[in-house]
Amino acid sequence: MTQRIVVTGGAGYIGSHVCVELLASGRDVLIVDDFSNSHQQAVARIEELAQRGVECLKADLADAAQKNAIVNRIKTFGADGAVHLAGLKAVGESVAQPARYYQTNIGAALTLIEALGAANARSVVFSSSATVYGDLNDNPVTEEGRTGATNPYGRTKLFIEEILKDVARANDQWGVANLRYFNPVGAHASGRIGEDPNDTPNNLFPYIAQVAVGRRKKLSVFGNDYDTRDGTGVRDYIHVVDLARGHVAALDYLSDGERGAVDVNLGTGRGYSVLEAVAAFKRASNRDIPYDVVPRRDGDIAEIYANASKAKKLFGWSAKKDLDAMCADHWRWQRENPNGYNE
Ligand code: NAD
Ligand code: WQD
Repeated sequence: MTQRIVVTGGAGYIGSHVCVELLASGRDVLIVDDFSNSHQQAVARIEELAQRGVECLKADLADAAQKNAIVNRIKTFGADGAVHLAGLKAVGESVAQPARYYQTNIGAALTLIEALGAANARSVVFSSSATVYGDLNDNPVTEEGRTGATNPYGRTKLFIEEILKDVARANDQWGVANLRYFNPVGAHASGRIGEDPNDTPNNLFPYIAQVAVGRRKKLSVFGNDYDTRDGTGVRDYIHVVDLARGHVAALDYLSDGERGAVDVNLGTGRGYSVLEAVAAFKRASNRDIPYDVVPRRDGDIAEIYANASKAKKLFGWSAKKDLDAMCADHWRWQRENPNGYNE
């Protein structure tokens, strides 16, 4: 029987790619998104790429007044499980507005748990983050590494992981996969969906892409005095399509009847420095990427990359696309949609 999956935050950057891969795997999808950080256009493009329709509910999962409507819709949809991506994600903003981050991210997760319970669906794949590891571990980081987020955003991820584990402990019908993403970048190879930040990008790749396309003058490289091979920060960048396929693999794992909760890294296992990423993007775009080195950004760590073997072992999944593919696809999206979804 066709599986029916709720994708919260399904119109967003990662969610749109997850929807395309879920539809390609033969599943039906209900997107629940308030479009606070995404566009209706993204849903149309998902349908265009998948060559089939998706259901979509525009709703704020953290708004108590909308809870009954959301629960009822998920029940009527006949959900078998969910991928939970909806939430706020800006680290700096979370430091300034902690209560809003806790209320939104944790409130949204609790509403989804209630709705899945009501629909008798007990599989959930959650968007966690490598940020839960803080700066406490040697690289490559395994899932058994120490956790300790350094900001409210990261703590919402840790708390939601724990809430889902408690839910799975309380009822052995639940299956939970907490996916700890490293640094998702790139875009669908078609150039039709990709990351479209509302404001000045916080993250490296969207910033580089906007410099390459001429929307911004130059990149600020946050520090070149780290103890890394060229002094700049090292991260495990992962192609968003590989990441999306990791969600399909996690749902397959849960559909095979695995219950209980697992924490799983989604990364490539390889780190690249800021300057290496800039050089790769320059090659892919054939554009100049001017940059200045500026002081370190508060809260940044020198280096983090994944031990990615657990995902391989449990899900049979590993990342396939290299840094050049990440840059080429990110660039295609940026070049063909210089103003994102605002055509
Ligand atoms: P995104 O902002 O593009 O997607 C999040 C989506 O959720 C958006 O479409 C937004 O409109 C929606 N949303 C936000 N609050 C909502 C609410 N209260 N009710 C309903 N919908 C709501 O971000 P993304 O980069 O695609 O990230 C998706 C998830 O992955 C987030 O939970 C994020 O924390 C997590 N994550 C992202 C990264 C990254 O670097 N992009 C890394 C690790 C984890
Ligand atoms: C990557 C590298 C920067 C921008 C953040 C969140 C994390 C996760 C992903 C959700 C670092 C350097 C960046 C710039 C730069 N999100 N940089 N100039 O910091 O690893 O992770 O996004 O869970 O929680 O903290 O990603 O892309 O911001 O930075 O030099 O303009 O690029 O210092 O070394 P980060 P990033």
